[in-house]
Amino acid sequence: MEDLRLDSLAGVGPVTTKKLADAGIHNIMDLIVRGPVEISDITGMEKDTAEKIVNKARQQLVEGGLISKDFVSASEIYKRRQDIGKITTGTNCLDTLFDGGIETQALTEVYGEFGCGKTQLCLTMCVQVQKSKEEGGLEGGVIYIDTENTFRPERIVSIANANGMDPQKVLDNIIVARAYNSAHQTLILEEVGPIIEENNIKLIIADSAVGLFRAEYLGRGTLSNRQQKLNHFVHLLSRIAETYNCAALATNQVMASPDVFFGDPTRPIGGNVVAHTSTYRIYFKKSGKKRIARMVDSPHHPEEEVIFALGEAGIIDPEDAEKKPKKATSKKETKKTTKKDTPKEKIDSPEVEIPTTESQELTTAEIPEITNTDGQELAVEVPEELVLSEALDEEFSDSSPKDV
Ligand SMILES: Nc1ncnc2c1ncn2[C@@H]1O[C@H](COP(=O)(O)OP(=O)(O)OP(=O)(O)O)[C@@H](O)[C@H]1O
Ligand SMILES: [Mg+2]
Repeated sequence: MEDLRLDSLAGVGPVTTKKLADAGIHNIMDLIVRGPVEISDITGMEKDTAEKIVNKARQQLVEGGLISKDFVSASEIYKRRQDIGKITTGTNCLDTLFDGGIETQALTEVYGEFGCGKTQLCLTMCVQVQKSKEEGGLEGGVIYIDTENTFRPERIVSIANANGMDPQKVLDNIIVARAYNSAHQTLILEEVGPIIEENNIKLIIADSAVGLFRAEYLGRGTLSNRQQKLNHFVHLLSRIAETYNCAALATNQVMASPDVFFGDPTRPIGGNVVAHTSTYRIYFKKSGKKRIARMVDSPHHPEEEVIFALGEAGIIDPEDAEKKPKKATSKKETKKTTKKDTPKEKIDSPEVEIPTTESQELTTAEIPEITNTDGQELAVEVPEELVLSEALDEEFSDSSPKDV
């Protein structure tokens, strides 16, 4: 492994190293991930100096073959893309949708209404990434940024058991960071570099990426501020995925927008910010007991839909759900899940606390009614301002009439 210590850079002595370390920059990778503008902001050093240091860092990493040069041939990019790892979802249906699995060097955003299985996917991937390469994993660890307190180790245990893995070992390889507010959430990500290296992290999860930002920045007055901060978070996540060759998985909720008459009247909360940054965007939708996953945005996947299901083993193929009817699943787990999904619990979530403005958001009280139409496909779409990648542009152009 290349020397990533800050003082291995020519011209960076103990004083600068300390200044950078105090600001949370611990190695050369961190310099690249954060960039000169931010480094100058957080350390107080001159922009020129920050630029020089970051350029040196970049040069060193290029020489060490850790990152690609600024001008590269397409064949070099192709070669680098050969390093991309894929993590199986453990199902045929979603692996088909993802063309093999969730990719490293990319940000995958999953959005959808409450209870559609976003967190279940995250928990499933925590286990799958630890599988051997032959089995479709990356033999790596996980960092799980939990912003809604929905990380459940018990679910990890059942998913690990269902996959014939040692639950204790699987739990040991998951580092959970509970984020209490959006600034904390961002701080966690900013500090994550050394942890990734020390623990062979191959998957970073932010569940949910947007909820806290949305809860804290209420009203249209603070919208651009929120989008700017969210933008920073999402870009950081995506840069970390690229720099460290790990997969980033972010979830995002949707809100109803009743002004949409055709198609799906829900949209992801992050708005365009998240959508533009994500490499892959997948929309999860409830359809009775089954779930539908649609690849919404991808540079190289066709826009297609698959059906999946949720079970003891996390995300499962629909055939497997039929094999084991719902009643056959452990009652304990089912009870827990039911509890977790009751409107009561949802009321605690930041998602529902936000007052609605123009585009009315789904409230927990309303959702059960909508979902009661068992078997019938829900016409629910993600509002644009909620789409992580799309929020950016709209926000900055100040033409986001649909934003919260
Ligand atoms: N042990 C289990 N067996 C079968 N299904 C389960 C189990 N645990 C959870 N589920 C299913 O997962 C659903 C909850 O999914 P999940 O928590 O992933 O939703 P979400 O999309 O993250 O929602 P939110 O937006 O509220 O965070 C439950 O409604 C249930 O159908
Ligand atoms: Mg969830």
